[in-house]
Amino acid sequence: MPDATIAAGPLWLCQADELAAIPEGRARGFDPCQTGQDSVFVVRHAGRLHAWRNACPHIDGAPMAWRKDAYTNAAGTHIVCSAHGAQFEPATGRCVQGPCLGQALSAIEMDIRSDGSVWLRAH
Ligand code: FES
Repeated sequence: MPDATIAAGPLWLCQADELAAIPEGRARGFDPCQTGQDSVFVVRHAGRLHAWRNACPHIDGAPMAWRKDAYTNAAGTHIVCSAHGAQFEPATGRCVQGPCLGQALSAIEMDIRSDGSVWLRAH
């Protein structure tokens, strides 16, 4: 289910140095709507950052991490949903294995401004 607050965007996410600290193949969750639950996560793959809604397409709106920031497999090659093991390509969000094969995560566009602030815009 799309988050109405993110959909309205732009919405402040963090400072760019927080994204710079995300290692290759790992992710970090954020709570830009201040709901007490991370609704967005950012993953670094092949040196690039990608932002996705923390909502699995298998069960609409299901959060994906089994603990804070645990969105990728051990090798860091795929995003994994902890509920039923669906695996997603980090760059495209497409499910390549699991119960929602062929479906995709919802992308969120990030805007990194000259002052170092990072803002979200819904796709
Ligand atoms: S809720 Fe994500 S794989 Fe089932």
